[in-house]
Amino acid sequence: MYVCLCKGVTDKTIRRAVNDEGVSSMRELRQQYGVASQCGCCKSCAKQVLTDAVKERNTRFLEETLLPTAVCYT
Ligand code: FES
Repeated sequence: MYVCLCKGVTDKTIRRAVNDEGVSSMRELRQQYGVASQCGCCKSCAKQVLTDAVKERNTRFLEETLLPTAVCYT
């Protein structure tokens, strides 16, 4: 879905920016894609999509980097 109509930015674009480009803040999103830089109507929706994407990225990172906790006693 379109998040920012003024700049034509979708939720998919925001998720890709978070996962592939390391975007983590509204400032970075605004600088790179212009989100919320014109009318500002998209700000809260963009922030929500960004927050969710960053949480998912961080959770995935922790799951991939944590050492296995299962121990075999045989
Ligand atoms: S809809 Fe994003 S700046 Fe207007």
